[in-house]
Amino acid sequence: MNNNPNYVRIFDTTLRDGEQSPGATLTSAEKLEIAHSLARLGVDVIEAGFPAASPDDLEGVRRIATEVGNPVDGESALSRQVPIICGLARATKSDIDKAWEAVQHAQRPRIHTFLATSPIHMEYKLKMDPEEVVEQVREMVAYSKSYCDDVQFSPEDAGRSDPEFLHLVLGEAIKAGATTLNIPDTVGYTTPNEFGKLIEGIMANTPGVENTVVAVHCHDDLGLATANALAGIQAGARQAEVTINGIGERAGNTSLEEVAMTLHTRRAVFGLETGIDTTQISRVSRMVSNYTGITVQPNKAIVGANAFAHEAGIHQDGQLKNKSTYEIMRPETVGLSHSRLVMGKHSGRHALKVRLSELGFDLDDDELKQTFVRFKDLADKKKTITDADLEALVSDEIYQPREIFSLDGLQVACGTIGMPTATVRLIDPDGELHVQAAIGTGPVDATYKAIDAIVQAPNTLLEFSIRAITEGIDALGEVTVRIKAENGSIPRRMSPQSGRTRRLTFGGHGADTDTIVACAKAYLSAINKLLAASGRYGRTEKSTEVAIAEPVP
Ligand code: KIV
Ligand code: ZN
Repeated sequence: MNNNPNYVRIFDTTLRDGEQSPGATLTSAEKLEIAHSLARLGVDVIEAGFPAASPDDLEGVRRIATEVGNPVDGESALSRQVPIICGLARATKSDIDKAWEAVQHAQRPRIHTFLATSPIHMEYKLKMDPEEVVEQVREMVAYSKSYCDDVQFSPEDAGRSDPEFLHLVLGEAIKAGATTLNIPDTVGYTTPNEFGKLIEGIMANTPGVENTVVAVHCHDDLGLATANALAGIQAGARQAEVTINGIGERAGNTSLEEVAMTLHTRRAVFGLETGIDTTQISRVSRMVSNYTGITVQPNKAIVGANAFAHEAGIHQDGQLKNKSTYEIMRPETVGLSHSRLVMGKHSGRHALKVRLSELGFDLDDDELKQTFVRFKDLADKKKTITDADLEALVSDEIYQPREIFSLDGLQVACGTIGMPTATVRLIDPDGELHVQAAIGTGPVDATYKAIDAIVQAPNTLLEFSIRAITEGIDALGEVTVRIKAENGSIPRRMSPQSGRTRRLTFGGHGADTDTIVACAKAYLSAINKLLAASGRYGRTEKSTEVAIAEPVP
């Protein structure tokens, strides 16, 4: 544990609260890769999931605990600590059992249990008296402690709870063994002034609080999540609960990059530090966006495409000689090096391996072989290959769900004359080739119709986005899509908080110098996730959740 009073722990919940975002469904391979990247980014705690949600969720958290929560062979004792791996549990024995079953494999496991404390949640959701809530907190924190030294307790909807009741509940949680007290503004209701005061009150009035870490967990319903988290930190909280790109339930959570870069850029104001390697921020942001299919709005602070866009204008007009006229952060500080030539046509496999490992991708021999083939192919079409191109290739080639249907070929005819037509060749799981032609309103529509005719997995396309990864006419086109199953065996996911289940949606990602091919790959990767989750082609270790936990009354 870092005893520096000015150290703010970064608790990343992208894989738990972030994955509760409408639309975010990650395969276990994607979760594992994100967890590795979060560790490289320097987060202190990874909340890896909600193990009670399903056997797959439990297995996903267990894998992260084992593979990311332990030092790799040969890692020196001096290298930085591995992150704490945390599992969420409602305040019930069976949830806590499952959380422990999953996180115990980590060198530094944590159980995070929660129970609502606001009048509205106690009366209508829990149907419990305040006294019963206090008793359950006591018992379940103590039960968590019987497994694990590191126990975090959250009074859900603290932002709308009575502060005096909160002090009481938190005091009891400390007595029962809680080491971190997380204060959630679950519905994003408070203002920075109110939230700062709430934390100040907790710091001043909770017996035993000085021996714990107080955390802030804010939601962005009013666009105040980052401001509220920072107000809480200024009032004494030393753990910030955040997600990459701010993804999360409804309007999302406090974004990691905003908190980390504010504390970094305005050191003089806050006088605080984090363990975040800011140069990793852009890479992890792109990875999360690609894997979840949730695109980042262009004007998003720190990681939006326009966040540093003034650069180009400045260079062009040459009028502004001092960069800090409009720039409070350097793009390099968040890892943007978009014009950097990293590799070329003559680079060999070893050079590719070295560059990918510098970028944080440790591929095995087969994965490297696959990526090298794509790299050579790209190098034939594109003169300069940048880090961003390499990242797109790896996420396109390696971190895809198990391919149920794979793209064997595509041809389109489009333009101002005649009907847009696509001919698609797909290989099914038995190795059989299917060829289908279709017409559509445009080449993408025709391609998707042809794929639909072969795959027969009715779905609605919820989102479609396309962007060029680098500048220039030869840029790789990167496409993300999000789809929802229409009927049949529709996978659902339960929210740990509301207990409600909702239909999963699936994101897909594809990258290619031919934009229509990228569109086809993206759609197919989303469809493969849907098929894997629905169990139509047998479920695999990489498939997403289907079985769901019983909601707790
Ligand atoms: O927003 C919230 O209250 C949560 C808790 C489970 C910590 O995510
Ligand atoms: Zn939350």
